Amino acid sequence: MERKYPHLCKPIRIGNVWYRNRMFSTPMGGTDIEMDGCIGPKSQAFYEYRAKGGCAAVTVSELMVHPSDGSHAYRLDESILNSLPKATYTADAIRRHGAIPSIELSHSGMFAGTYMTDKTKSHGLNQWSADDGVRADGVPYKALTREMIAEIVAAYGHTAGLCKRAGFEMVMVHAGHGWLLNQFLSPMFNHRTDEYGGSTENRCRLAIEVLKSVRAAVGPGFPIELRLSGAEFVPEGYDLDEGVRIAKILEPYIDILKSEEVLPFKQEMFKLGETYKLLAERAGAKIVTGQEVTKEFADAYKPDAIIIAAGSSPLRPPIPGLDGENVILVNDQYKHEKPITDSVVVFGGGISGVECAIHMGMEGRQVHLVEMRDDVALDSVIRQRPLLLEKLNKLCTVHTGYKGLEVTKDGIWCQTREGEKVLVPDTTVICALGQRPRWDVAQELYDCAPWVRVIGDANAVGTITKATYQGHHAALDI
Ligand SMILES: Cc1cc2nc3c(=O)[nH]c(=O)nc-3n(C[C@H](O)[C@H](O)[C@H](O)COP(=O)(O)OP(=O)(O)OC[C@H]3O[C@@H](n4cnc5c(N)ncnc54)[C@H](O)[C@@H]3O)c2cc1C
Ligand SMILES: Cc1cc2nc3c(=O)[nH]c(=O)nc-3n(C[C@H](O)[C@H](O)[C@H](O)COP(=O)(O)O)c2cc1C
Repeated sequence: MERKYPHLCKPIRIGNVWYRNRMFSTPMGGTDIEMDGCIGPKSQAFYEYRAKGGCAAVTVSELMVHPSDGSHAYRLDESILNSLPKATYTADAIRRHGAIPSIELSHSGMFAGTYMTDKTKSHGLNQWSADDGVRADGVPYKALTREMIAEIVAAYGHTAGLCKRAGFEMVMVHAGHGWLLNQFLSPMFNHRTDEYGGSTENRCRLAIEVLKSVRAAVGPGFPIELRLSGAEFVPEGYDLDEGVRIAKILEPYIDILKSEEVLPFKQEMFKLGETYKLLAERAGAKIVTGQEVTKEFADAYKPDAIIIAAGSSPLRPPIPGLDGENVILVNDQYKHEKPITDSVVVFGGGISGVECAIHMGMEGRQVHLVEMRDDVALDSVIRQRPLLLEKLNKLCTVHTGYKGLEVTKDGIWCQTREGEKVLVPDTTVICALGQRPRWDVAQELYDCAPWVRVIGDANAVGTITKATYQGHHAALDI
């Protein structure tokens, strides 16, 4: 037999556990959580699928260890009927396919309630962290008292013990991604003056106490994995050197370290397209480019089914001058079809406008950003937004409350909140005013096959995840 990846596929022993290879499935958001905090059937099936796929361990994501954390609703609590049995079923669903069931223990600190759909209710929760402060979305949080810290440390141990009882054979302690333990590790969030703040060692104290508490509960030989952000990538946060020091301080208390750095996600996005193309070709799909699907083409081809994934087109409102030579659509700027001058004004402060402005700023251009609303990148996720805004404010001049009235070769004439008319001067204008669905294509092709489905942006402008999800299910439905 050809052994393509002999090392990756070699079994490994960590503590008292044998893993069948070296591929570990990382935790991914348990979204199907029931009202009583138990794992729902969809989440369980998701983890089971991963185990069946052949990896060595599958980690169930973010189990809240303490009631002060309302972020994700997954809990393990003996007072809840079914809580322990359902965890057992999940561990078994992973184990019976030969993978080691692991579970991630977490507390989100100041981000408690972030992902709850009922935002009013989530803001009614108490949010706790190392310090007193206010989150980027305006939600205040309070510093944990020593008594509460002790209670949370004990809760980590207690929950780890329950996980072991339920059949999990390892645990992961989450100290990354901005959650509570990360908030204590971070000089950006932790300004405590007691033994939990200040030096790197002091900021590691809570994580060490948690790891000791977990070890006491699960005993020796039971692998404990630690998830740590390698660096925080913001000036007030810890850098890679300190990340390495933190890892060394915590090393004696753990068996596996999962460290991460933030990847430039646009590059990943690009690679995703390449990967999907390859997978589609391997599955036997013939990819034809340079061919517009019109009614005539479809009628001649006579398909049994059409999935219309025609995407969206950029919105270009009837603002005078927006069709000028110096205007480039945000979707087209990477094509370099038109020269981009050293001074640029990005028109529109949604996520794509903000990302484009940052990109232009990183290229060394002078960038102005014009946005009619009071703030920018309002749709970005709460943990990404501060990073985006920090970069934006460093690299660009941002004008909020500016309504674009007219585009000229010298820039954009805007009306300020106070009603004043001002020119934001720049020679290239990047139009980032939104997208609209290609309903025209959907309307043209709706009766060109016995089975037709419109998916993705052609249906409603959204994200890659949504388009992929709808495409997958459309294909299954044919
Ligand atoms: C600037 C910008 C940045 C973005 N960043 C992100 C991001 O970071 N993350 C994220 O998740 N989403 C992002 N999005 C959104 C994301 O690009 C879309 O949600 C996603 O591409 C939608 O996929 P889709 O397959 O529906 O359409 P598209 O990806 O738009 O693909 C539609 C394709 O159909 C082709 N087509 C149209 N009509 C026909 C026809 N008649 N015959 C043949 N072919 C046709 C088009 O040429 C196009 O190639 C961004 C969007 C923009 C504009
Ligand atoms: C949909 C989704 C949900 C995730 N949920 C969690 C989570 O609950 N806990 C966690 O620690 N990481 C979570 N992650 C991060 C992943 O575990 C992983 O670290 C990340 O995707 C980077 O790994 P990759 O480079 O192999 O994709 C999630 C990632 C995705 C894409």
